[in-house]
Amino acid sequence: MESQKNYKNFWNEKAATPTSAFIAVDGSTNEETARLTGAYSAHQVSAALDLQPGDRVLELGCGVGRIGHEIAPRVAHWEGTDISSNMIDVARDRLKAHANVGFTELARSDLQPLADGSFDKAYCVAVFIHMDKEDFYLYLEDLARVLKPGGLLYFDVWNMASAVGWRRYAFEIEQHRVSDPAARKDVARNQFSCPEEVRIFLDRAGFDLTLLLSDSPWVQAIAVRRGSSADLEALRNYADSVSARVAYSPLWTELFDAIINVATGKLAPEVLWKDLADDSRGEEIPMFREWFLGLWKGNEQTWGKAPR
Ligand SMILES: C[S@@+](CC[C@H](N)C(=O)[O-])C[C@H]1O[C@@H](n2cnc3c(N)ncnc32)[C@H](O)[C@@H]1O
Repeated sequence: MESQKNYKNFWNEKAATPTSAFIAVDGSTNEETARLTGAYSAHQVSAALDLQPGDRVLELGCGVGRIGHEIAPRVAHWEGTDISSNMIDVARDRLKAHANVGFTELARSDLQPLADGSFDKAYCVAVFIHMDKEDFYLYLEDLARVLKPGGLLYFDVWNMASAVGWRRYAFEIEQHRVSDPAARKDVARNQFSCPEEVRIFLDRAGFDLTLLLSDSPWVQAIAVRRGSSADLEALRNYADSVSARVAYSPLWTELFDAIINVATGKLAPEVLWKDLADDSRGEEIPMFREWFLGLWKGNEQTWGKAPR
């Protein structure tokens, strides 16, 4: 498709309306679901980065401000950057109550508009999974540039080294197997990584790793920008101490796997829906219930009528 040849027009097309923008960021079909999933992600980010009221924080690939909406009230300045002006329009509207936010539309895959050493902390969730590895790496170099020495970075990428991560990858592989070999691959298709790749990229880009989590479909990394007298051991001890708050929980992974099974026809949606009725199983249940319901509504042709 001619109009989907670069990241910018791909994501602008995905975010052609506010509703489609919500769906494109994480499958949330409404504000309520985006608040639930945004709070979950913001909790991970806050713990990973040890967010403080005085921090200047950068989000790369902010989308509709799903996470920024929760983070902005807790910090001195929150800057949302994105390649898509349509995404930024939705985020700007959602965060209009906050005076301490800024937005930067990126012309291409770099942080060129942002000054060297201008942020204390940065994060990037579900963004590097949608770009070529070269762009992922170059963004890490640029993040090292815009962070102050000693600044902290948190991000995630799909983890093909985990069992559930591999099943998510296999879903893509099966679609590829039956695709037209002459068709150009989507520029923003899901890309998969493994922990070793993340280690190498961070080291080469000028970061010291403080925590790498890989027991879920995600590789999650916390790293510190080199070049300061920061006590690496203390930062690693801190990261270890918050690892349970940063990691995707076993229940999250189990429910995500169940969604893959529904998507691949191995599990009836009604069975998962029944499992999602019991809130006492964990805080993830209400979030997954809303999330799954939205997915079901978008798949009624194959899954049958959604329960509500
Ligand atoms: C799946 S969404 C995630 C949004 C947000 N991080 C969240 O978790 O809600 C991916 C976002 O990354 C943005 N994006 C994709 N490619 C990008 C690139 N090369 N540079 C900057 N942003 C990009 C998209 O426009 C979109 O808003």
